[in-house]
Amino acid sequence: MRKFIEKALKKLNKLGKEQIYSLLYDLASENERLEMVLDSMPNGVLVLDRNHRLILTNKMAERFLDFTGSEIYEQLVWDVIEDREIAEFLNRSLRNQEKVVNKEFALGPSGTPSRILSCSIMPLVKGGEIHGSLIFFEDITERKSKEARLRRAESLASLTTLAAGVAHEIKNPLGSISIHIQLIQKAMNNRKKIDTEIVRTNLEVINEEVNRLNSIVVDFLFAVRPMDVKLEEKNLNEVVGDVLDFVQFELEEQKIEVKRTLEDEIPDIQLDEKYVKQALLNLIKNAISAMPEGGTITVTTRSNGENVFLDISDTGIGISEELMDKIFEPYFTTKDFGSGLGLTVVYKIMKEHMGEIGVKSREGEGTTFTLTFPIPQKEQKLLGWKGENDEV
Ligand SMILES: Nc1ncnc2c1ncn2[C@@H]1O[C@H](COP(=O)(O)OP(=O)(O)OP(=O)(O)O)[C@@H](O)[C@H]1O
Ligand SMILES: [Mg+2]
Repeated sequence: MRKFIEKALKKLNKLGKEQIYSLLYDLASENERLEMVLDSMPNGVLVLDRNHRLILTNKMAERFLDFTGSEIYEQLVWDVIEDREIAEFLNRSLRNQEKVVNKEFALGPSGTPSRILSCSIMPLVKGGEIHGSLIFFEDITERKSKEARLRRAESLASLTTLAAGVAHEIKNPLGSISIHIQLIQKAMNNRKKIDTEIVRTNLEVINEEVNRLNSIVVDFLFAVRPMDVKLEEKNLNEVVGDVLDFVQFELEEQKIEVKRTLEDEIPDIQLDEKYVKQALLNLIKNAISAMPEGGTITVTTRSNGENVFLDISDTGIGISEELMDKIFEPYFTTKDFGSGLGLTVVYKIMKEHMGEIGVKSREGEGTTFTLTFPIPQKEQKLLGWKGENDEV
């Protein structure tokens, strides 16, 4: 249809009145169809020219944004949007030509927002040139509340496993304390003179067990503490680089060589730097313990358009098949001084990132842990656009 109109426009002066009428008719019906499609979309769409003036909107955008005034077209977009936070954000991002993916806004009175909108800004590209911007609003209220419900249910479930773990863990020290108290009682009963040496050794054991109980509870609290994860768009390679620089010295000391195979252009993902660093450190710590004689840690980043992957491989002792099922269980450890919570914490961090953790291992050869992070949906679309000349 477009090609036909383009052709007709080129020889406009040769067209008769009838043909021009029919051309206008075609144009009008194509326009109507476009409007119908736009208005039936569940998302709000705003199209701006290169000076950030509004040239097209749809019904949903009007419903979401409460435009001010009757004349909104040809106006600067931030002048016609009622919500000050969104207006100021658009003003700043558009002027700085920032790429925006899924920036969230709460609409309605603060404290009890009625709707949550996600906003993305994409350039309108034609013939390799930017002609304006496309702003896309999505109502994610339902999705957000579903996610929150799921997270609550999941954290409740893992809390129950952890609580069962604690109950199991404290059984031994409590039993041991009780036995040693009985021993002290025995030493004191039926005797005129108390053997202080027996009392002292038993008290020492009791003291050790109390310390153990304390660390079980402290570790438990650490693992169940709600994570204040704040996801921001970041490049995983930078986070990985920081952690590897940080542990470099310790790895050298342990005769461990580090190989970095980081994919050059992995897309940014939503992550909380503090927590991803902690997850990575826990995995590196495990790799170090698996290679007491030294070895190699290979850290790889890669992506497939849907996910970004981070592999941490070691050339250590490996994990036997029967232990494989247990390693993520809270308190499971094969180490004398391990808490057994390292991988539980990594698992929890990955859940908070809507991601996954996987593991492959061969006994005596080594282990690879793989963290999988989702690439934000809008980011995937942008990637698909690269190099294309999209028409308005
Ligand atoms: N890279 C690895 N190679 C071999 N075994 C591993 C590796 N990573 C984890 N494991 C096994 O999984 C168990 C659980 O790991 P996790 O990190 O949860 O606890 P931990 O390392 O024992 O204790 P902590 O993390 O508190 O030091 C370990 O004790 C070990 O047996
Ligand atoms: Mg560990």
